[in-house]
Amino acid sequence: MKALVLSGGKGTRLRPITHTGAKQLVPVANRPILWYVLDNIAKASITEVGIIISPETGEEIKESLGDGSRWGVKITYISQDEPGGLAHCVVVARDFLKDSSFVMYLGDNLIGCGIEPFVDTFNETGSDAVILLKPVDNPSSFGIAEIDADGRILNLEEKPAEPKSNLALVGVYIFSSAIHGAIDSIEPSARGELEITDAIQRLVTGDNPVRSHIVETWWLDTGKKDDLLEANSIVLDDWIKRDIRGDVDEASQVTGRVDIAPGATVTGSTLRGPIVVGEGAVIKDSFIGPFTSVGAGTTVVKSVIEHCVILSGAEISHVNRMEDSLIGRGSKVLKCHHKHEALRLMISDDSIVEI
Ligand code: G1P
Repeated sequence: MKALVLSGGKGTRLRPITHTGAKQLVPVANRPILWYVLDNIAKASITEVGIIISPETGEEIKESLGDGSRWGVKITYISQDEPGGLAHCVVVARDFLKDSSFVMYLGDNLIGCGIEPFVDTFNETGSDAVILLKPVDNPSSFGIAEIDADGRILNLEEKPAEPKSNLALVGVYIFSSAIHGAIDSIEPSARGELEITDAIQRLVTGDNPVRSHIVETWWLDTGKKDDLLEANSIVLDDWIKRDIRGDVDEASQVTGRVDIAPGATVTGSTLRGPIVVGEGAVIKDSFIGPFTSVGAGTTVVKSVIEHCVILSGAEISHVNRMEDSLIGRGSKVLKCHHKHEALRLMISDDSIVEI
């Protein structure tokens, strides 16, 4: 079995964070989302991994993953010049996939479990597709499956205006080579893309065996700010252990599961986990509350922060209380002591400032 990871696209939904970077590389608990994807693929003993990249962000993805040796896998990069839909990615990857079965994994999806049980189901049942489902509150934003009482799939629809169920297709699929013929028989959707959901529907209509699994753990599609903050909180809560490798002075208090990377310094501050602090970060005279990730090289001075994702190289200074915020690389949030209470801002396109 091979793996095909979709890591192209322009990431418009997380603008401006992803104006300058791939959405799959946005860090959750200070690790790029894509690294968790590779963790899961490697744990399922899959060693041949194709990564779909786009001209806009491909170089960055290559730099982050390299040849895959960190995970003990061999990565082949495959360029998709125009975003043509998830099924189009499979078409572009045909030379790599040949007639092998494969796990298709969307590079911005995080799930709270391994994929081994799904791979086992696929192998044991001789299915042409195994899909993962999860109930959601906003079914019109996803591919949606209607299933019968025995869990058999009746119908699949991409982002339906009138959803027949609340079971969304999670961005992890397992296919046999039968998916290629199904893709050849579909037309682009209203949004002009070749939808993998339509191709799986063809398999269902053609009586090919398709199995579904309801994912019992959490699943996060991290395309938007609140999703990303939630993903960060859950990953910190589930996976972070206390590990203090940086320098913490006597005047500081660090309680709970706090991971401080080497080269980080904490002085005169209180940290309450779960928190991660990246390499070379500086935290001075501050309070950092639960569910916060402080990126590498970021400085926090005389500030109170809780439930935030602060990417690398940022600076937060004299901010009385900041919550539920996502701060991009190299950004500065500074409280100035001017006579007049005027705001002085330099923010990029599509930013949100709540005052
Ligand atoms: C894609 C799929 C959709 C699936 C979702 C999961 O949507 O088309 O069926 O439910 O991923 O993340 P997109 O991210 O392209 O909107």
